Amino acid sequence: MGGLRRLEYRGYDSAGVAVVTADGGPLAMAKKAGKLVNLEDYLAAQPLPLGTAAIGHTRWATHGAPTDLNAHPHLADRGRLAVIHNGIIENFAVLKAELLATGVVFASETDTEVAAHLLAKAFVETRDLAEAMRIVARRLEGAFTLLAVHANVPDVVVGARRNSPLVVGLGDGENFLGSDVSAFIEHTRDALELGQDQVVTITSDGVAVTDFYGGAVTPRRFTVDWDATAAEKGGFRSFMDKEIHDEPKAVADTLLGRTDPAGGLILDDLRINEAVLRAVDKIVVVACGTAAYAGHVAKYAIEHWCRIPVEVELAHEFRYRDPVVNEKTLVVAISQSGETMDTIMAVRHAREQGAKVLAICNTYGSTIPRESDAVLYTHAGPEIAVASTKAFLAQITATYLLGLYLAQLRGNKFPDEIREILTQLHAMPDKIQSVIDHAGPVRELARSMRDAESVLFLGRHVGFPVALEGALKLKELAYIHAEGFAAGELKHGPIALIDEGQPVFVIVPSSSGRDSVHDKVISNIQEIRARGARTMVIAEEGDTAVEPFGDDVFFVPATPTLLAPLVSVVPLQIFACELATARGLDVDQPRNLAKSVTVE
Ligand code: AGP
Repeated sequence: MGGLRRLEYRGYDSAGVAVVTADGGPLAMAKKAGKLVNLEDYLAAQPLPLGTAAIGHTRWATHGAPTDLNAHPHLADRGRLAVIHNGIIENFAVLKAELLATGVVFASETDTEVAAHLLAKAFVETRDLAEAMRIVARRLEGAFTLLAVHANVPDVVVGARRNSPLVVGLGDGENFLGSDVSAFIEHTRDALELGQDQVVTITSDGVAVTDFYGGAVTPRRFTVDWDATAAEKGGFRSFMDKEIHDEPKAVADTLLGRTDPAGGLILDDLRINEAVLRAVDKIVVVACGTAAYAGHVAKYAIEHWCRIPVEVELAHEFRYRDPVVNEKTLVVAISQSGETMDTIMAVRHAREQGAKVLAICNTYGSTIPRESDAVLYTHAGPEIAVASTKAFLAQITATYLLGLYLAQLRGNKFPDEIREILTQLHAMPDKIQSVIDHAGPVRELARSMRDAESVLFLGRHVGFPVALEGALKLKELAYIHAEGFAAGELKHGPIALIDEGQPVFVIVPSSSGRDSVHDKVISNIQEIRARGARTMVIAEEGDTAVEPFGDDVFFVPATPTLLAPLVSVVPLQIFACELATARGLDVDQPRNLAKSVTVE
């Protein structure tokens, strides 16, 4: 149950388990709609027997409402075979019609149940669960991780994966399968990566992996560099709270060990020839949600430091608009989980067009880094809360490293200029810590605004993606209407939204710098105040010019402009977390969401 609890962030519409007992009797199963706690309460009253193998699942509903019946596992073969599934079986309707025609009776509305009945038929023919899985996997279209157990083989769990994550945990006299390593981290940190279109069979003392046609495969072994305590709340009231407090370390760890003895920058896993990187004439960042906002910040930094044009594209739009990419394009895929299906598909499309792909990812062994030409890992540690916080800061940090690496490689900056920016970057964890330590007034404001109906966020330059991220955090956590705007765009339409008392956060850029837009943002504040807005201003320490114009002013430590998002976003994360908590909402598991969106 500990493993399911640590995976619950991936989906919390329902949960279920099936246990195989040594006596070969029918499987024992329990499943309940709603969060895992419903299943735990049920099992506390009606425990399942101990068994030789078990499978468990938490669901983010795609096909069929989040009911007890649609919860996984799904049974077939008179209750002797159980299946759990992540992903979508896209050809399930055809397969279901075929099964219905042979008299199969379905108990749920899910696509998954099709796989259960197909497996049962294949098992009857082969008497071999792994071979049955291979036969079925070859017939399925779409994305799936499937796990199956059968009462006739009580010490075996078989899994298959296509376009959806699955990793193996190697224990002592026990082995595990999980969507990510947090499922088994309390038992082992030794793991195997599974590749695309592979079938795995585990017993208590063995692991065998093949492709979908039975060809043997040798999976890559890795060791997880964090332990179970990193995936616990550690005394904080929510994972999100804890993860905000982890931010200084996430940034520091992402910066750690990036310079070689000669002072040059190094990336983790660079399978791209330096000559190819030197010849890159365009960068396209593909990502979704918060990760895409990290990409927006990257655009400002990389264009400024490297003089390479950078486009930022929502991954789900990328391949459908026939983008212009070729062997001179570097596609940067940013993903905390490494399993976001929209981003995976964008990566594949980019590579098909001849582009090189560099992944910025927080999850070792996940699909996106495996399918990319180079990887820059963020070292934020496990992020459990659905709303991304520390991963965002780590992603921004990684894009700075990438920008500096390219500037070094292409000779856009002198080594001492790069060193100076790196020194400034290394000072950021302390500055972030200071924002967290002084967040009392932000928390107070958030609590006082628990009944707000709409909050707007304005930013300019790198403050614009910060405004977008502040709005996203508030939407997803507090279910309040929130919009982020480029401050300069206000007068082109959105200013019509300003009415008496409308709360507006404004991220004020640094007043230093040659091309400062500081004064223009101050003018924007005055324009909205003149129309009745309540202004909540985030500005850098020492910026006395803003004080008369903010109903509330929150100061963050002064930083070079391009690095400012690392501090200016933190009060917005804290604001959203505190406001949602004051509304009595579950900030770790907001409604309708899942941490890794593994469907398109
Ligand atoms: C943000 O709080 C969300 N969790 C979401 O926007 C997320 O950043 C997006 O789904 C991308 O996820 P990834 O980084 O795992 O690819």
